[in-house]
Amino acid sequence: MTGTNIHHAATLLKEGKVVAIPTETVYGLAGNALDEDAVLTIFEVKNRPHFDPLIIHVSSLEAICQYVEDIPKTLKVLAEKFMPGPLTLLLPKKDIIPDLVTSGSPMVAVRIPSHPLTKKLLVSLDFPLAAPSANPFGYISPTTAKHVADQLGDHIPYILDGGPCEVGLESTIVGMEDGRVTVYRKGGLEVESIQVWVDHEILVKTHSTSKPDAPGMLSVHYAPKKPLFILENETDWASKTGEKNVCFLRFSTPFEGFDLSKQRILSPQGDYHEAAHHLFAFMRELDVLPFDVIYAERLPEVGLGRAINDRLKRASVF
Ligand code: TXA
Ligand code: MG
Repeated sequence: MTGTNIHHAATLLKEGKVVAIPTETVYGLAGNALDEDAVLTIFEVKNRPHFDPLIIHVSSLEAICQYVEDIPKTLKVLAEKFMPGPLTLLLPKKDIIPDLVTSGSPMVAVRIPSHPLTKKLLVSLDFPLAAPSANPFGYISPTTAKHVADQLGDHIPYILDGGPCEVGLESTIVGMEDGRVTVYRKGGLEVESIQVWVDHEILVKTHSTSKPDAPGMLSVHYAPKKPLFILENETDWASKTGEKNVCFLRFSTPFEGFDLSKQRILSPQGDYHEAAHHLFAFMRELDVLPFDVIYAERLPEVGLGRAINDRLKRASVF
């Protein structure tokens, strides 16, 4: 069932059930982070391996302090500046957070979502919500209640519908490594915005395959079912226009001379926020339309363009 009843969502969560919740980034599949059975249900519904830890969601910085041992000074500045918002911090956990949530790591990922419905929901609960993105493991994250319903609707009792997610990309995951602010997953908060508040050059980790620091960095992740290829230049695009059953995912302009109905434009304005907002919804749409292959355009490596390119790369065959 889908609806906007926060009280109903809270009641289910208090009973140990899992509920899909809206956030400004993507929809989450939420359960009581302090209840191991609820956390196990999240892993089961998502078909997610237990080595991939979960982010906990709380309503305030004070609430974060209940669940972590310490917030390094530099990260506190970021928390004060960007929370609530699309920022997740990796912090040393208190014992009250089950190891299952962090996959045995002493660090817990925490964030404060800014979506008004979920904010109200969190305030009404006396426990944090563990919530991965509400998609089957490995697939594209959902940015509408319908995306969630299409894939997980039969497996969960309730989807709290908060409309389309404003940001449309998962949160940026940030921690400290050897005294340096480190970005583990590029996301809805730009690296450039973080850098402004840090007095040393922040480290941005590129993804690894075998032993990822944050399993959101697994190389195949966020992928549509169809093959997706990233194209680099005009000659490449031109060479694909003759192929049968292909579609184009472009940044700001359609490719001239190719059927417009087979193209999706992320932002005609060339606006990175608008492009991010549309990215996953367009990938899903193209995934279910009768095309065999998706060709996608790489964006300039600035602002949210970096996170969008990161998701395209993970969605792509190479
Ligand atoms: O925007 C978001 O972050 C969304 C919304 C629902 O909050 N959540 C989300 O969760 O994207 P998920 O589980 O799909 O991705 C979270 C990533 C995972 O790759 C996970 O491995 C990493 O965060 N992560 C979580 N806890 C961690 C930890 N203790 N240490 C390292 N990485 C962690
Ligand atoms: Mg996910």
